[in-house]
Amino acid sequence: MDFWLKDCKIVPENIEISICIEDGKIRSFKKIAPRRAEIMNMKGSVILPGLIDAHVHLRDPGLTYKEDFRTGTSAAVVGGFTTILDMPNTIPPTNTRRAFLEKLKIARKKSLIDFGFHAGVDNTIHIKKINDLRPVSFKVYMDLVEEDFLTDIFKSISKIDDDKPLISLHCEDKKLIKNYTEKEKRKGRFNPEIYANARPPLTEATAVSNALSLARDYGLNIHICHVSTKESINLIKKAKKSNINVTSEITPHHLLLNLSYLKKCGNFAKTNPPLRDNENKIDMSYLSNIDIIGTDHAPHTVTEKEKNIWDAPPGIPNLETTLPLLLTEINRHNMTFTDLKRLICENPAKIFNLKNKGFIKEGKDADIVIVNMKKEGLINPDDFKSKAKYSPFKGFKTKGMPIMTMVRGEIVMEEGEILKNQGKFVYD
Ligand code: DOR
Ligand code: ZN
Ligand code: ZN
Repeated sequence: MDFWLKDCKIVPENIEISICIEDGKIRSFKKIAPRRAEIMNMKGSVILPGLIDAHVHLRDPGLTYKEDFRTGTSAAVVGGFTTILDMPNTIPPTNTRRAFLEKLKIARKKSLIDFGFHAGVDNTIHIKKINDLRPVSFKVYMDLVEEDFLTDIFKSISKIDDDKPLISLHCEDKKLIKNYTEKEKRKGRFNPEIYANARPPLTEATAVSNALSLARDYGLNIHICHVSTKESINLIKKAKKSNINVTSEITPHHLLLNLSYLKKCGNFAKTNPPLRDNENKIDMSYLSNIDIIGTDHAPHTVTEKEKNIWDAPPGIPNLETTLPLLLTEINRHNMTFTDLKRLICENPAKIFNLKNKGFIKEGKDADIVIVNMKKEGLINPDDFKSKAKYSPFKGFKTKGMPIMTMVRGEIVMEEGEILKNQGKFVYD
């Protein structure tokens, strides 16, 4: 069965074309859709490749009171995402073949969109076995593991014979965090903005430097998650020049918010790494040095977030806010459609080897999001499909909204309404 999406506006070229979709794939393009064909008229709306979120925490299994594959992918599809890559810090963690297969079973049943998984590592003996199941990367939390163990992980991965898997890293130095946190806690204060003092820019720069040295020494590819400071970006830029294979990611909150939001929103803006002051934070002028935007959708309950600053869990739910916020930045001429497509469609597909994703091109999956660039909105967490009904972006006015999301040719979201669909493992 084929059908045509008629009069889609392709950006940045600003030309209208019609797209033939057959068996969930993009088959061909024509200036004018053929008559008598089955047609959906897009009437000149902007279309983008379905967004790929390389960094989400859908909390399934084990923490489904925070989120699950159905609510998490509902949030994703409302936000224009057609593929998500889930992080391993679930219960059980995705550290073994068994846990990986269990997550696969759950996602096949509950996911509305296509999915892949980052694997975790708690014992290097599992690496080879879990690698056969094709995780998108091995994720390591440098704020949680000892340096020796980190080196062991690089060593083990470098010994894999065939294609060496990517290592994704949460870069904050464990020892430094411990020292700074103890120092802050001794002061006995509980105002939220002090959280940033417990994990200052140096903790990130130290971990980034260590990660880059390991990548160089073992000749492995690394991906640095949620980079939050200019200094980290500069370290990565320099490493790239010396041929270290490294890519970088930024979140919408580290890009669009500064430290003042920790004061304003309290724990709802608490995240690791923390928000930074204007001097240290990354701004739009750094976009060309960043490889991808990942949302780090990290949902918690409002009750958990109402604990004191030290006990409340870090994390911000972002799947529903990211695209409207970025389209708003495009409307304000702070970024371009070319940036958007590169950062959240094309590069995630390239870095994580998603061959059928990320581009509106013949032969690719018909993962498409249709946006209305004039539609205005107000961010209201009560409307979220995510179980996490809070956001430091609450009350932000937006202009530009996804109005339809299509996964392999199936409409899964239309005007905020969700339709049934079965997501697929990205490497099946
Ligand atoms: O803010 C964060 N939340 N940073 C992390 O590294 C973990 C994540 C989570 O899982 O909640
Ligand atoms: Zn992280
Ligand atoms: Zn994360």
